[in-house]
Amino acid sequence: MPRKKIFSWDKAKKPMLLLAPMAGYTDSAFRQIVKKLAPETICITELISADGIKYKGEKTLEFLDHTESEKPFIVQLFGKRPAFFREAIESVEKMGADGIDINMGCPARKVIGSMHGSALLTKPELAEEIARTCVESTKLPVSVKMRIGFKNYDERHFLDFIKRLEQTGIKALTIHGRTTAQGFSGQATWEPIYLAKKHLRIPVIGNGDITSAEIAKERLKDLDGIMVGRATFGNPWIMAEISSALRNKKYTPPQSLKEKIPLILEHSRLAIESKDRRGLLEMRKHLSVYIKGFQHAGEFRSRLVQVESMKDIEKIFREIDTEFC
Ligand SMILES: Cc1cc2nc3c(=O)[nH]c(=O)nc-3n(C[C@H](O)[C@H](O)[C@H](O)COP(=O)(O)O)c2cc1C
Repeated sequence: MPRKKIFSWDKAKKPMLLLAPMAGYTDSAFRQIVKKLAPETICITELISADGIKYKGEKTLEFLDHTESEKPFIVQLFGKRPAFFREAIESVEKMGADGIDINMGCPARKVIGSMHGSALLTKPELAEEIARTCVESTKLPVSVKMRIGFKNYDERHFLDFIKRLEQTGIKALTIHGRTTAQGFSGQATWEPIYLAKKHLRIPVIGNGDITSAEIAKERLKDLDGIMVGRATFGNPWIMAEISSALRNKKYTPPQSLKEKIPLILEHSRLAIESKDRRGLLEMRKHLSVYIKGFQHAGEFRSRLVQVESMKDIEKIFREIDTEFC
């Protein structure tokens, strides 16, 4: 029997390129598309409730659907009860996870209101207990994704927090260079991320506002990896561009919408196959951003956000292909 390949943050090829976990976007279909374009990308699931997994919530468990081609399969959990994380990890391990990532960065009011996500930045002892419990519950590598602060960036608090986390035995840390209070506004600040790298031995991954291969190269400095989020909306090819640039290779992305159509249709098919109608409904937002920049986008967007089947999607892109590209 072939031996299971064990994922390790230490051994992963550097610099690493990661697809950011993004709720409602980075599902199995999107991850498969990104891996097809840039196979070395490490993908992380969107945030999944540890409580939901513990209670075997049907909808929650669907977030764990994945395919071999997405490997390593790294599951991001959020929660606040260490014991629930332990139970969730037991289930997730049986489902083939290769790593566990703990969400300490989500700024959504609903999430922080119940002391989940980035609210943990205000409770270092609890954050530490959760991380330690996770590490002790599994042989899988545990990582954390966090922001640089809650209300504001306080260097002393930040350094204390990341060192506490490292001491629990986590194997990697991703830092988004914004505070919770900033949400997604303003610019990400990368100085705290570089500072973290100076103070930690575990791999440090930087995140925030990478929108091109040039910016990725510039931001990397001595970090172990780069994580890219919103810039992939409608443009998963950016992962191949960044991946090539980080290895000093050249990649030419498709120049016209016509060249992009086969992949857009493949993404749609995967989304519908994996999640039926929900996949179709979620695909509508991807479709409308895929055509951003196309000179007739407005005309087609209103139809794309109402598609009811794969046939509808194919018909619209056939029209685009024959009439405009
Ligand atoms: C729609 C959306 C959903 C997100 N969902 C998650 C999530 O589930 N878990 C998480 O850790 N971060 C989540 N994030 C934050 C991203 O992972 C990332 O940190 C952030 O977008 C900054 O990176 P970027 O500038 O490259 O987009 C989300 C962001 C967006 C825009």
